[in-house]
Amino acid sequence: MSHFFNSLGSFWFPLCPSNLLEKNTVLSFKILGRSLVVWANANGMIGALDDRCSHRSAALSKGRVHIDGLLSCPYHGWRFDPRGECLVRPQLTDQSTSNVCKVPSYETTVHYGYVWLKLVRKSNAYIPNFPESADPKIRQIQGFHEVWNCSAYRLIENGLDNYHHHFVHSDLLETLSPIPSPVQGGIEESEDGFCFSSILKLRKNKNLSNALGHDDTIYTVKRTVRWLAPFGISLELDWSNGLWQRIVQYAIP
Ligand code: FES
Repeated sequence: MSHFFNSLGSFWFPLCPSNLLEKNTVLSFKILGRSLVVWANANGMIGALDDRCSHRSAALSKGRVHIDGLLSCPYHGWRFDPRGECLVRPQLTDQSTSNVCKVPSYETTVHYGYVWLKLVRKSNAYIPNFPESADPKIRQIQGFHEVWNCSAYRLIENGLDNYHHHFVHSDLLETLSPIPSPVQGGIEESEDGFCFSSILKLRKNKNLSNALGHDDTIYTVKRTVRWLAPFGISLELDWSNGLWQRIVQYAIP
């Protein structure tokens, strides 16, 4: 394994909304250059393996979930469990050597309505804590899940960029604040990476009134940006009318 894979693969990545992985669904993903198959069986158990059968290298993502909950290879029907163990080879009567046919497997878990995956098992990485997820007064909305043709670091850098709103989002946000200085309010190191805050004053417009459900002349919003190393961003928005939002974005290279 390369150093690149070992270091970045130690983190948890939100792979997809968990409702995409309904029972008996098989999906393929590419993450850090590795092709994976991820499946859920009828009991909701999720498995993630290299997308390459240990027999003749067929793509396991072209297979299906067998009635016994194992992932069945599309070529000769070998069946794998979530640890990558090949438990059934239909052509053989003796299954006792199936442990030599193992496929590399990966840890998965479900948090915040997403399937998370970690490529390197021996790591202490954790999934960021968003305490409001347990608050029944807070509504969670799933955002978009799509391919961006750019470097993952470029996407994260955009989330940390405090200067572009005045230009890129000027139709939505007519900013009355000056462009913030680089360290407005200071940058604090956190256990995930770092965070900083800034306050924007915005002039009322139709988009804002619709989005916030209020009709104030001037809106003030405190933005707190948190870098969730290596490829996550959390943006908290504290609006002067009492509304609060957190927007979380992840890149999966
Ligand atoms: Fe998978 Fe033969 S290639 S069972």
